[in-house]
Amino acid sequence: MHKSRGLIEGQTREEARAGLKPGNFQGTPPRGRSHAAEQAAMNAIDDHWFGHSRFKRRARVVSVTLLTSTGTFRIRFEVVDGEPFEFVPGQFVGIEAQFEGRGFRRSPYCILSAPEEAPFFDLMVRAIPEGPLSLYLADLQPGDEVLFRGPTGRPMEPRFADRELVLMATGTGVAPLICLARHLLANEYPHPISLWWGVRLFEDICLTDELDVLDSTYESFSYDITLSQPPEGWTGLSGRLGDSVPPLLQTLGGKRFYLVGNGAMLEEMGMALSDLGVVQQYIHKEPYFDAIHEPDRDVVARIRERFVANDLFSAYAARRGSAFDIDRDIEAARTGKAGNGDPLAVSDLFELLPAFLSHHPDQESPAPTHVKRPWNRPD
Ligand SMILES: Cc1cc2nc3c(=O)[nH]c(=O)nc-3n(C[C@H](O)[C@H](O)[C@H](O)COP(=O)(O)OP(=O)(O)OC[C@H]3O[C@@H](n4cnc5c(N)ncnc54)[C@H](O)[C@@H]3O)c2cc1C
Ligand SMILES: NC(=O)c1ccc[n+]([C@@H]2O[C@H](COP(=O)([O-])OP(=O)(O)OC[C@H]3O[C@@H](n4cnc5c(N)ncnc54)[C@H](OP(=O)(O)O)[C@@H]3O)[C@@H](O)[C@H]2O)c1
Repeated sequence: MHKSRGLIEGQTREEARAGLKPGNFQGTPPRGRSHAAEQAAMNAIDDHWFGHSRFKRRARVVSVTLLTSTGTFRIRFEVVDGEPFEFVPGQFVGIEAQFEGRGFRRSPYCILSAPEEAPFFDLMVRAIPEGPLSLYLADLQPGDEVLFRGPTGRPMEPRFADRELVLMATGTGVAPLICLARHLLANEYPHPISLWWGVRLFEDICLTDELDVLDSTYESFSYDITLSQPPEGWTGLSGRLGDSVPPLLQTLGGKRFYLVGNGAMLEEMGMALSDLGVVQQYIHKEPYFDAIHEPDRDVVARIRERFVANDLFSAYAARRGSAFDIDRDIEAARTGKAGNGDPLAVSDLFELLPAFLSHHPDQESPAPTHVKRPWNRPD
């Protein structure tokens, strides 16, 4: 019998439950009763909680692999509760663990491996300093069991195979995108798929063996990595995704964008794309953290300025004639206030969106060719 890690040292899950104090769980702690009545009330709350907890599924650790010296792990699990386990790319499992003095914590993790490998599944986990759940996962050993719920979450597979896919991830956000790309390519997705991965350091780079296999097997797939803090002599892409990718995308029409990872990147890149005419329905976002709602307008403006693609924008310009100012129009649309000259009303701006697209029926740009592989250098 394997122990379930994350419990207080030497304690079983049942013992942990027995030791619960009023207020550990949702529900009003009973007041002014005898100890026995209080205990009975707490047991009822406990039974209710665990009876309804969705974190009842069990998976056993098969292997734990350190992917980077900076603390990224790949953890392979096998579902061992005998229940069906099926998922589609983009879905995640919720992991639960108990921590002394902190109670239970639960967090989602996107699945990296292919759906066909179920009941095995892999997670890509970044160990966060002082982060209880990620450190708990990074500390797992083969044979340990975890409690989880799922798989759940929004599937990423597009409903229609009608557009080129541009996948952008920061950090571990790449996991579901690799899962998605692998799945779509194996199922002969008919349009190019390009993956752009933003990490901080050279040492953060990993999984390139698998990405290289996809790249060499499927002509329609390409990927590149951008380092926000590159080492001296680095010849690859430098800067955050918002610095390095916009100059490389020749067109924005006919594409679906997937943004995964750091919420600030999602909001800033998402808003820049939207400002340039990409309709929201083609921008799929999966924030892992920092799902901020108010992106910095200056950052967004800088990203927007770096985009060379102007296919949707030219459609807008053609419609507006020579006297246009997209910043003014967007601001007028956002605030509902008229700018100088001939501003668009909110409704006009939104009505223009189909016009952008009809001027530019789906165009496909050739997948970027990535001939250099600076991360594969011998040292
Ligand atoms: C839908 C979804 C899917 C997710 N999938 C993954 C995944 O596949 N792999 C993964 O490692 N994490 C993933 N996360 C994040 C994960 O759920 C936890 O938030 C993370 O492991 C930190 O938990 P913690 O308890 O260790 O630290 P916490 O105390 O909860 O977090 C501390 C801080 O660490 C930062 N942080 C959180 N997650 C990350 C991360 N992945 N990379 C860099 N910084 C981070 C944030 O600033 C956060 O405030 C996902 C989150 C969501 C919402
Ligand atoms: N210098 C450091 O070593 C440092 C700094 C901050 C956090 N951390 C910690 O390191 C751990 C692991 O983090 P991680 O590197 O896996 O994930 P991360 O912090 O999300 O960073 C991954 C990549 O995303 C970039 N990024 C951050 N905000 C962005 C934005 N708004 N738009 C586009 N790209 C953006 C980062 O660039 P940047 O390098 O420009 O941030 C980095 O290249 C976390 O615990 C984090 O708290 C370390």
